[in-house]
Amino acid sequence: MRNELAKSVIGTRRLVLRPLREGDAPAVFAGFNDWEVMRFLSSPPWPYTLADAESAVRRSLDATTNPDEELRFAITRKDALIGIIGVRHRAAGEHQRAEGYNIGYWLGRDHWGQGLMTEAARGLIAHTFALTRADAIYSGAFAENTASLNVQRKIGFVPYSETVLYSRPRDAMLPHVNTALAREAFEKIAA
Ligand SMILES: CC(C)(COP(=O)(O)OP(=O)(O)OC[C@H]1O[C@@H](n2cnc3c(N)ncnc32)[C@H](O)[C@@H]1OP(=O)(O)O)[C@@H](O)C(=O)NCCC(=O)NCCS
Repeated sequence: MRNELAKSVIGTRRLVLRPLREGDAPAVFAGFNDWEVMRFLSSPPWPYTLADAESAVRRSLDATTNPDEELRFAITRKDALIGIIGVRHRAAGEHQRAEGYNIGYWLGRDHWGQGLMTEAARGLIAHTFALTRADAIYSGAFAENTASLNVQRKIGFVPYSETVLYSRPRDAMLPHVNTALAREAFEKIAA
């Protein structure tokens, strides 16, 4: 299942999601090395370097053999990488109420506000539900990240708790909303 997911190429109306591959690091760096993107994220280093992008791509290539690693997909439009969306299997914990798949994403600033992340996330989620028996998919965002919480709300995610999460780029603990998307809710909204 995981291997099949890792190799998937997912087409949506305007986008193609494909596994990250060698050679993607410069495009990842170009979109990701932006404080307006970084300030909403928890784990990347800041300042961000091309070597960090290369290392992220390398870890992603290992993801088929390392079950703890996130499966990362390039979000491409007309063959250009414009962002990343990842899915990983996570144990239940403070920021996820049950074991299951968790999604995270970013999009280069030039591409915001056109519904592209909603489209990309719907594509990956539909594919993940189709390939797995998961009855829910988890996500979340820092409480101030209205755009991301809107993306999730449009898809059918429902907030279920608020925690405090460390943001490495901000070097601060920030309020974080945890959300879950039930399979039935997704299928109902998508229908
Ligand atoms: C969050 C992010 C992925 C959204 O991508 P996007 O393609 O612009 O999202 P969409 O256009 O599909 O949907 C965004 C929604 O939020 C709304 N929105 C955008 N910015 C907003 C803001 N500052 N305040 C309120 N609403 C906002 C949009 O109007 C849209 O809702 P609508 O369709 O009802 O009008 C993008 O802004 C991003 O990469 N941000 C930085 C990284 C990040 O936050 N990643 C997620 C971490 S949880």
